[in-house]
Amino acid sequence: MTSHPHPLHRTAADLRELYLAYFEEKGHLRVPSFSLVPQNDPTLLFTTAGMVQMKPYFLGEATPPNVRLTSTQKSFRTTDIDEVGDTTHLTFFEMLGNFSVGDYFKREAIQFAWEFCTQRVGLDPERLWPTVFLDDDEAQQHWEEAGVPAERIRRFGEEDNWWGPAGDSGPCGPCSEIHYDLTPGEPFHGPTCGPNCDCGRFVEIWNLVFMQYDQAADGTRTPLARTHIDTGMGLERLTAIAQQVDSVYDTDLFAPLVQRAAEIAGRPYGQDPDADRALRVMAEHSRSVAFLIADGVVPGNEGRGYVLRRVLRRGIRFARRLGVQDPFMGRIIQDVFPIMGSAYPGLRDAHDHILQTVAREEEQFQRTLAVGTALLDEVVTQLLVDDQTTVPGDELFRLYDTYGFPLEMAEEVAADRGLAVDREGFQKAMDAQSQRSRDAAGGFRAARQVSEAYRTLSSLATQFLAYDRTEAESSVTGLIVGGGVTEKASKDQQVEVVTAASPFYPEGGGQVGDLGR
Ligand code: SER
Repeated sequence: MTSHPHPLHRTAADLRELYLAYFEEKGHLRVPSFSLVPQNDPTLLFTTAGMVQMKPYFLGEATPPNVRLTSTQKSFRTTDIDEVGDTTHLTFFEMLGNFSVGDYFKREAIQFAWEFCTQRVGLDPERLWPTVFLDDDEAQQHWEEAGVPAERIRRFGEEDNWWGPAGDSGPCGPCSEIHYDLTPGEPFHGPTCGPNCDCGRFVEIWNLVFMQYDQAADGTRTPLARTHIDTGMGLERLTAIAQQVDSVYDTDLFAPLVQRAAEIAGRPYGQDPDADRALRVMAEHSRSVAFLIADGVVPGNEGRGYVLRRVLRRGIRFARRLGVQDPFMGRIIQDVFPIMGSAYPGLRDAHDHILQTVAREEEQFQRTLAVGTALLDEVVTQLLVDDQTTVPGDELFRLYDTYGFPLEMAEEVAADRGLAVDREGFQKAMDAQSQRSRDAAGGFRAARQVSEAYRTLSSLATQFLAYDRTEAESSVTGLIVGGGVTEKASKDQQVEVVTAASPFYPEGGGQVGDLGR
């Protein structure tokens, strides 16, 4: 084993700084995190990676302030939401990244990553397993030059070693990941065990993307004028490894939040896996919700607002499994500020707004649950009297449609009393309702079309220009005429415009999707 030049036990804040300072030392300009709501990027609902703010540079549409850049980017993804509560998956996370805009390529990207992991963080090189794209001999060679034995470098296809585009189009390319071996020295779980094995022995910590193509929405790839580097490392995973703990929830980023959740639920953490998972979900979703609200997302029924509402309600559902009936998220979020406030001052600035929004939304959902649960209880009682085993789909739909009572919740209430729910019937009732809406004539249809148009444009963010201006110049990013999204409008037409920036305070809080409600 190689000696470790630096102590492993560091705080997450130390590691964040270590990373940014290392890349500054290598000529990178430190740039602030982008908002979780991407500006002027209709292909994305949320900022999902550090490269989002680099896209115009990679595509040659804008000039970067420096050809080497580094950041810690607030990122949000719901792709892994069902895994949240295990040891590594999150919805909100921090992505440490270094970027080269037409400057260095594979060789330096690999050298930097190797030096940072082994020399600066002090990770044991023998526990690091790089992966490369199938035919990427060049990347393989650079890893070997760095000192990794060939047998520890594995090759994978597009599913694992190709990254992008971030939305339905944009820059993409082959990638090379670094995986960390959690249990070195133990026998492998079979002949194919290694990085990407689903046994859980290896955890991916860093992804180096070699940006080479611009992919169109139809899947065609055109080579980019210049090649670029986009890397992303999850700070939470790096911290868990550096602090030698079993999960991201045991790091200093999360431990106080999980402890608070445990105190709220009156359940000790670390004794029962199901309860632990619920406590972790409570902590994780509270943190995500705080960051989404700080960046201007407002709970709603469409687009980003809907995603926020879902995450918040999911957190509440998990808390209810532990018997937590009262609003709790604000209490956990209070503990997020001291942990994250210095790195992301915008979070601290939005302190009151976050807590008020969360309190309102939690109370509203608790009321929905109380009314829905009482009604469902009556239905279930009658079904039991009638010797039935399943709650019919139209009953479930009535609760959903009239009271906003979620199907998952109904399923849990019914299961508590030994009944199943007719999911298929629920879906049928839902489809029938949509059909009725489509068939409805006149003004109602027009109203629906308008709301479709808002939905189509909902990924366009409008920057809110502070509180002290009543006039501003900005470009038009979207047009609606006669209820439909359009590219052009002519004289005398009545037009709704979406602008890139505006001094008007939008009713829903900064998003086009909330206009008109
Ligand atoms: N864009 C890549 C990722 O998200 C690397 O930053 O994994």
